[in-house]
Amino acid sequence: MKKYAVAAIILIIILFVVYEGLLYYDNNFRYGRMWETPAVKPLEETPMKMERGVVPFTGGEALTRISLGSEIRSPLQKNNPAGIEQGKALYLTYCAQCHGKDHDGNGTVGQSFHPLPTDLRSLKVLALPEGELFQSISYGTPNGRQPPLASTIDVLDRWRIIAYLKSLGPRK
Ligand code: HEC
Repeated sequence: MKKYAVAAIILIIILFVVYEGLLYYDNNFRYGRMWETPAVKPLEETPMKMERGVVPFTGGEALTRISLGSEIRSPLQKNNPAGIEQGKALYLTYCAQCHGKDHDGNGTVGQSFHPLPTDLRSLKVLALPEGELFQSISYGTPNGRQPPLASTIDVLDRWRIIAYLKSLGPRK
C-alpha cells in the first residue's frame, strides 16, 4: 500500500514540475501572443489621410469600363500624324500577330482562334464608334475571343492604335 502512495506522490511531483515548466515556457514565450496584441475595431482610430489622387473622381479606367461605348471619346488630338505613326508601331507590336500586318485577320497566332480574328478594315469594324473599339480591345468582347488587353497596353497607347485603325479606311 505504502509503495503505491510513494509512486502516486512521485507522479504528482512530476506532473507539477511539468506543469510549472510549461507555464514558465508560456510566460516567457518570445514571440508574444495573439491576445496580447491590440485589437483595433474598424474606425476606432482615425483613418489615415489619403494622398490626393488615390481615389479618382474624373476619368480613369473604372469609368470607361462601365460607360456606354458610344459615349467614350478619345482624349487624343484628332488627325495627328505623329500619333497615328505611333499607333502603327503599337499595332504591329500588340495586334498584328493575330489580326495580321494587313489588318485582315490573317496573323499567324490568330489562325488558331475560333472564330478567326476580325478583319479590322471590314465595314462592320469601321462603323464601330471609337469608344466601342476601345472597350473591345481593353476588356474583351462578351462571349467573343478578342483578348482583354487593358492590363497589357497603356490607355493612351490603346487610343493611338484606334486612331491608326480609323486612319486606314475601307480596303480598296
Ligand atoms: C491573341 C489574338 C488577338 C490579339 C493579340 C488581338 N486580337 Fe482582336 N480579335 C481576336 C479574335 C480571335 C477576334 C474575333 C472575336 C470574336 O469574333 O469572337 C478579335 C476581334 C477584334 C475586333 C472586333 C471586336 C468586335 O467588337 O466585334 C477588334 C476591333 C479587334 N479584335 C481589335 C484588336 C486590336 C486593335 C488589337 C491590338 C490592340 C487586337 N485586336 C489584338 C484576336 C486577337
